[in-house]
Amino acid sequence: MIHLYRVSKSYEGIPALREITLNVDKGEFVFVTGASGAGKTTLLKILFCAERADEGQIIIQGMNTFRLSPSSIPYLRRNMGFVFQDYKLLQHKTVYENIALALKVVGTPYGEIERRALTALKRVGMDNKDHLTPPKLSGGEQQRVAIARALVNEPQILLADEPTGNLDPQSGQDVFRLFKEINLKGTSVIVATHDWETVRKMQRRIVVMERGRITTDSKDQALERTVPANNGRGASKP
Ligand SMILES: Nc1ncnc2c1ncn2[C@@H]1O[C@H](COP(=O)(O)OP(=O)(O)O)[C@@H](O)[C@H]1O
Ligand SMILES: [Mg+2]
Repeated sequence: MIHLYRVSKSYEGIPALREITLNVDKGEFVFVTGASGAGKTTLLKILFCAERADEGQIIIQGMNTFRLSPSSIPYLRRNMGFVFQDYKLLQHKTVYENIALALKVVGTPYGEIERRALTALKRVGMDNKDHLTPPKLSGGEQQRVAIARALVNEPQILLADEPTGNLDPQSGQDVFRLFKEINLKGTSVIVATHDWETVRKMQRRIVVMERGRITTDSKDQALERTVPANNGRGASKP
């Protein structure tokens, strides 16, 4: 579903990503972790086509996005939801209007908007506050609305960048529980976070980045463990 091969990206000559190779299957849950400045945000932005890579191959759902024309980006994004650390909700619009707008911009028929918006809000437990504006909500509630917005078009891929960075531990756990539920319904989820405690508890695939490189991928280690000792020579990683 997502294939990156030797993807590199520099900002003003300084490398942010160095030859990143990463494959994510349909329905996988992947944590991307690593110190601040490791390149997590840049990686997610490249997947979302919010940044362009300098080198490498990027194939997302069969589309080569390295050469994607700007006019095809909205089409690709229809299949992706993005959750930000600071929620990025429209402050003067109600919860309902924030969600309805995400449906309108992709041309959802008018008659379907209300039902789909309320279904998405119910999914995150925020349908009872649909008439409030974001400043009246807690951080955890705002993030749940932002997750509803990311899901409302039923994307196959959900990307989240430090989604619990501004939240108290309890609200953070609620957000991760939601991601788990979303993933169980078949959506691939990729979360960048430095909340190492949660990452360990969730027991999902962990990709560790250091200075623009992937230094550890728990999936590779799991594969290595399944190769019998006497049969190990010549076994290749995917
Ligand atoms: N827009 C930008 N302009 C210049 N440098 C940037 C920009 N975005 C990120 N960088 C640099 O790229 C590197 C990786 O950043 P980032 O992807 O934000 O890391 P992380 O999300 O892991 O903290 C850092 O050295 C950062 O300073
Ligand atoms: Mg970041």
